[in-house]
Amino acid sequence: MAPDLPFAGRSILVTGASSGLGAAAVRRFAAGGGLVHAAARDQQRLAEVAASCEGLPGTVSFGHLDVASPTDCRAAVAAAVERHGRLDVLVNNAGRHDFRVTADVTDEQWAHDIAVNLGGAFFCSQAAIPHLLETNGNIVNVSSVAGVVGEAYSAAYTAAKHGVVGLTKALAIEHLRSPLRVNCVCPGGMDTPQVHDIEVPDGVDFDLVMRISATRGFMSADSVAAVVAFLASDDAASVHGSVQVVDHGHLAG
Ligand SMILES: NC(=O)c1ccc[n+]([C@@H]2O[C@H](COP(=O)([O-])OP(=O)(O)OC[C@H]3O[C@@H](n4cnc5c(N)ncnc54)[C@H](O)[C@@H]3O)[C@@H](O)[C@H]2O)c1
Repeated sequence: MAPDLPFAGRSILVTGASSGLGAAAVRRFAAGGGLVHAAARDQQRLAEVAASCEGLPGTVSFGHLDVASPTDCRAAVAAAVERHGRLDVLVNNAGRHDFRVTADVTDEQWAHDIAVNLGGAFFCSQAAIPHLLETNGNIVNVSSVAGVVGEAYSAAYTAAKHGVVGLTKALAIEHLRSPLRVNCVCPGGMDTPQVHDIEVPDGVDFDLVMRISATRGFMSADSVAAVVAFLASDDAASVHGSVQVVDHGHLAG
């Protein structure tokens, strides 16, 4: 394998790949020669992400996935394996952050927030692990600083992202006797549609909302995708069960 093409011949499934960090990760893997399957709900935006990778050494296919559906999760893993013949890396990136006052959260909102931000990572991992065991592959989960500390008006999102950290550790221990690696990235504020599209309910304490903003400002999605790609690469061969905060120092003090 050429050192500048760390993902040559490797098949990689990225969920939530139609924008932000997921799209940046697709481009990182394609630049490294990977066989990438980009999955999300919006096929038009996925086509644009794939088009943005033209000229890179890797190959990008794309297809439908709603991570709130366990059936979709299984189908997306099957599609990646069918398209590229194997699976080496799963990046559980899909997520959505809605600010909600806890007293107003409906049963359906709670269930949906947990399904999208935690259930998808579980069901995609469950479907992917048999394939990853065949290739000595790995999983990179995308949690958040909300997987390490609390965020106001984000009870379900914070609970789910803490759950992604727990899922990472549980899978890591369950597979200690195999070469499978499972790691987790906890980004701070990134310059992506998730933060551009933020809507805060009326009447909230805005100072509490702004506790999530880092002094150094928002990170680029590509700078976080670089850490995702590192964890997915052979350079991280000894990194297993780790929780990597990438936050411009926000949680350091
Ligand atoms: N932007 C930030 O500040 C920030 C901070 C910490 C963690 N994160 C996490 O990073 C990940 C990527 O987010 P982003 O910042 O790139 O935001 P984004 O909104 O640009 O991307 C999120 C992606 O997930 C997809 N998605 C959402 N719901 C989905 C569903 N039900 N099924 C399939 N795909 C779905 C979206 O379509 C999109 O492709 C998410 O898990 C998010 O929670 C983001």
